[in-house]
Amino acid sequence: MSDTIESALHENRHFPPPADFVANARLKPEEAEALYRKAEEDHEGFWSDLAREKITWHKEFSVGLDDSRAPHYAWFTDGRMNVSYNCIDRHLDQRGDKPAIIFEGENGDTRTYTYRDLYNEVGKLANGLRASGVKKGDRVVIYMPMIAEAVIAMQACARIGAIHSVVFGGFSADALRDRIDNSGAEVVITADGGTRGGRVVSLKKTTDKALEISSGTVRNVIVCKRAGNEVNMTEGRDVWWQDLVADQPADSEPEWVESEHPLFLLYTSGSTGKPKGIQHASAGYLLNTIVTNEWVFDLHDDDVFWCTADVGWVTGHSYVAYGPLAIGATQVVYEGVPTVPDGGRWWKMCQAHGVTVFYTAPTAIRALMKLGDEFPGQYDLSKLRLLGTVGEPINPEAWMWYYRTIGGERCPIVDTWWQTETGAHMIAPLPAVTTLTPGSCTRPLPGIVADVVNEEGESLGPDQGGFLVIKKPWPSMLRTVWQDDNRYRSTYWPKFGGKYYLAGDSARRDPDGNFWIMGRIDDVLNVSGHRLGTMEIESALVAHEAVAEAAVVGRPHDVKGEAIVAFVILKDERPTGTAAEEMVKALRDWVSEHIGPIAKPDDIRFADGLPKTRSGKIMRRLLRSIAKGEEITSDTSTLENEAVVTQLQGKA
Ligand code: PRX
Repeated sequence: MSDTIESALHENRHFPPPADFVANARLKPEEAEALYRKAEEDHEGFWSDLAREKITWHKEFSVGLDDSRAPHYAWFTDGRMNVSYNCIDRHLDQRGDKPAIIFEGENGDTRTYTYRDLYNEVGKLANGLRASGVKKGDRVVIYMPMIAEAVIAMQACARIGAIHSVVFGGFSADALRDRIDNSGAEVVITADGGTRGGRVVSLKKTTDKALEISSGTVRNVIVCKRAGNEVNMTEGRDVWWQDLVADQPADSEPEWVESEHPLFLLYTSGSTGKPKGIQHASAGYLLNTIVTNEWVFDLHDDDVFWCTADVGWVTGHSYVAYGPLAIGATQVVYEGVPTVPDGGRWWKMCQAHGVTVFYTAPTAIRALMKLGDEFPGQYDLSKLRLLGTVGEPINPEAWMWYYRTIGGERCPIVDTWWQTETGAHMIAPLPAVTTLTPGSCTRPLPGIVADVVNEEGESLGPDQGGFLVIKKPWPSMLRTVWQDDNRYRSTYWPKFGGKYYLAGDSARRDPDGNFWIMGRIDDVLNVSGHRLGTMEIESALVAHEAVAEAAVVGRPHDVKGEAIVAFVILKDERPTGTAAEEMVKALRDWVSEHIGPIAKPDDIRFADGLPKTRSGKIMRRLLRSIAKGEEITSDTSTLENEAVVTQLQGKA
């Protein structure tokens, strides 16, 4: 049993909303109650009214929800709008001079972009993209450091109706190539490099490598000058961002797209060897990012919001690039890691920029907690009024540290459950309404019909673990898997007559109705809040010339949540001593090169074979026990090759 589940059964600390928080909240208890009631009475009307209120439409819609092609759901179908217009232009009259992005580089350089600045920068790049021949519906891959220009690039794509696919800057050339090829991108926007952990990450160099092996759809590479590292520019293909925009005007007419026009693809891991391109639509996606920034983050006009996620992940889409801008908020964007020059960097930045609402991942909280209270103790964190977490269950110990040491026992913590596929928060506290219990993401938001069900789709009672499902469509749901509609149907709608969205998580509810996420039901690991498919890592390993077979499992890790353990069978003899050490290093580097450093196995063990049943199935449960170092008490006599268990345990 994991720590979280164990504690869930015993957790009895409850934190009701502080009175002064309730007094100033955007969504007060009675308003929240009205929202829940309305959503229950008229699901489609609830979302349609919100869409009318929160989105500025170029052409109003008349159809709320079109479910005629279920499980493909479409929202606000006959409306037209533009996401970038909603994030920027509509604020210019009231908030033209308000800071939209306060950027800080790892080396300490800062730059503030007002909404007017953002309008100018996005407009120029949008015009530059159009001049390079990018049209509505074309795919643009964005492979950038975490700098303001990454957000500008996303917004510029949205402005002209191009579909962006952001690839996390930590991914390797192979991973980048896969995403370029699968999306059929014609343009890549990158940078010479970015600074992380005190060193320059040469993104352009990796882009060049990816393009050498790609199938060749890319026509142009736009390179933002950032780190100043040396790069090769290919004549006719590569252009500096700064040159491209130099003569472009700032005004750029937004492309008025249909509500369902794809806004972006974002690749995420699943249970096969290949990541899938999650496809999101425009209006519905924008709506949920808007309402969750209001309801869950309670963002007011004078707040300074900081979501530490990289734009390479969905959190950096919904809570950096789109949601906060769509409601005219001020936010911090930071290029680097939290430990440069020391573990106080984030807290120093909170003080310097007056951050009021802070959102990060449990893995980061645990890592910073380990460094002690001394770092946060050096800074004034009294402006903080709300904290958030995302990506994995938070263990109550880390929750309490975050609450006490960072939040000064004054800030509610919103533990937000959602996914790349859901586009925005689904189960999360309303900070002026919900009584918090450390470790639980609490209850579904208004208009989100989440449940825990058994194999038959029947709702389960308190303390019974089952499948987490969403029973009614919601506006920001994924629309399909890019170029693979079958995978969309078979992954998300395989059970319950195709009526419920299957999240892929198991969960339970406590007697108060709070949801507790228990883990994935598929072969997906959650390493430092990032999703990694075991098959993906296995495919990378077996692509190495020395490897015959590999199996990858997770093991609990006190900072990363899960660590990656690989069991490897080599084509040659099982190595020992220095030969084994060298092979471990070679394979770790290999995986890093093929996927990215985040996928590097923490532990690699060699054996003469993998534990299999007599019918040839790898016994993953047994491998997980071995990885955890548990005593193997179960009967292994059904194993085809019992001796390998001792080898994998490192005992032979
Ligand atoms: O297993 C759940 C876990 O992260 C998965 C989604 O991963 P991804 O699409 O990469 O998006 C991460 C950021 C939204 C979920 O299926 N997860 C996410 N948030 C939580 C969580 N598990 C527990 N509690 C959370 N708050």
